[in-house]
Amino acid sequence: TPPPAGPDYSVTFKPLPGKTVADTVTVPEGYVAEVLYSAGDKCVAGSVGYAGVAQSFPATETQAGGQHDGMHFYPLDGVDQNKGGLLVLNHENVDAATLNLGVEATRTNLSNVGVSVIEIARADNGTWSVKQGSRYNKRYSGNTVYNVGGPAASAVGRTVVGTLNNCASGNTPWGTYLTCEETTNNYWDTTQDAKGYGWVVEIDPYEPSSTAVKRTAMGRFSHENTAYMVDDNNRVAFYMGDDSTPGCIYKFVPTKAYDPAKRANNMGLLDEGTLYAARFNDDGSGNWVELTVGKNNLTAGATDPGNYTQVATGEVIKGTLVDFNTQADVLIDTQKAARVAGATLMDRPEWITVGVDNTVYCTLTNNGSRRRTSASNPRASNPHGHIIRWNEANDSPLATTFTWDLLLLAGQDKEDGAAANVTGDIKGDEFSCPDGIRVDPKGRLWVQTDMGDTNPNNSYVKTFGNNSMYYVDQETGESKRFLVGPLGCEITGIAYTPDLTTFFINIQHPDKTWNTVRSGGGDARSATVVVRRKDGKPVGA
Ligand code: FEO
Ligand code: CA
Ligand code: CA
Ligand code: CA
Repeated sequence: TPPPAGPDYSVTFKPLPGKTVADTVTVPEGYVAEVLYSAGDKCVAGSVGYAGVAQSFPATETQAGGQHDGMHFYPLDGVDQNKGGLLVLNHENVDAATLNLGVEATRTNLSNVGVSVIEIARADNGTWSVKQGSRYNKRYSGNTVYNVGGPAASAVGRTVVGTLNNCASGNTPWGTYLTCEETTNNYWDTTQDAKGYGWVVEIDPYEPSSTAVKRTAMGRFSHENTAYMVDDNNRVAFYMGDDSTPGCIYKFVPTKAYDPAKRANNMGLLDEGTLYAARFNDDGSGNWVELTVGKNNLTAGATDPGNYTQVATGEVIKGTLVDFNTQADVLIDTQKAARVAGATLMDRPEWITVGVDNTVYCTLTNNGSRRRTSASNPRASNPHGHIIRWNEANDSPLATTFTWDLLLLAGQDKEDGAAANVTGDIKGDEFSCPDGIRVDPKGRLWVQTDMGDTNPNNSYVKTFGNNSMYYVDQETGESKRFLVGPLGCEITGIAYTPDLTTFFINIQHPDKTWNTVRSGGGDARSATVVVRRKDGKPVGA
């Protein structure tokens, strides 16, 4: 058979050397990495932007937030989709050096978190910039008012002020953005009830005048991202990780199919459906356990076995009583509901991605100590994490059973002579603490790392270098180091143009000299970076 027409997407880049600790974004030969959108940059029309002097609310409400994380690219009607579109990205936390907290401290902090929507465009020489003054440019912040939808809306309240802890994100088949609130704590503004946070929030980037909605039917926990699978009948499943120590893996299946013909018909789709949590059986089979009140022990007087990691060996786990009287109770206390229903406690589920062949991958970033191992979480102490994958029965998003295996155990080479729990089975370039993961439209798997310990004198960085991004072969598990971040940062956010000639990557919380603007430094800023090939061919190829 002849090779397929069009560009060649096979992976040929020359992998970067290990243990790189440069204070820059390091990319392979023939590539460039260019800063596109930094914390404090102009966003909304009329914004002045940060230029070295710390800013306060209300100026901060119009400019880029801090700590860029999850991200997605949206094409625009009438624009060449490889040369322009909307980039939507999360601001997980503040870039404190850009903020003056002497004025309006709370609202200034809250304005630096949330989401940015920016229109971006590519010049003929390949460089990208933000289109200043675009009507799409918008900030959703910790001060914005959000609507609340779904079965827990009446218990939470019809509106909530602020979206917080916007870690990773996902998109929908109908072109909206799902920003995921990673913690259920509200640590900045105690006048708001904690029940208002820990949700998936749906944003329509094409309608700047619309109000974003917290979708309670998808459950309340330490959301990482969402990834969807769709079948021939337009039924959809959304997969979600709970980045907790430990946490469970979930899927939400809307009751109705989505409508590809009429976008407006999909805007309430995430308010009605079935929430499941995953049970990974030791024999490689799996079950989706329904989290519906009245089923699977979700009743009044249920016993939560507890979060049984970090418990001294030998201690008897008594469990605590928890009442599930309504579906709102299940959705507000989803972590407890999953444990009561018998879901498997995983080593901190971070991003999930659905491959072009419908294999689903999830990064399990690490776990300090675990009381009981399982086949799906085989290390009692797992400082480097692993990647799990599964296939739904009949490749259906509606399946209630699946089969699973481990793609890889992260960690050091066997030759290093390290202890068993820190030795991995990665072929090629080893890494630790996988977090961001995405299979691109050409079926290529990318993994990004977040070793929390980024001190260059400590063992993680000495062993692996700075946080990085890797290509991983899904058949062989072979890994190739593609990009290394500057000092102190984690690498996150994977987005791209449809032709894959431009990748957008987020550099979160760099802390030395990279991307500083203030004279003398001290304000290394989080940023979205464009990664592209100088010859204009697809990234990775
Ligand atoms: Fe915000 Fe789980 O990373
Ligand atoms: Ca982060
Ligand atoms: Ca993360
Ligand atoms: Ca992480």
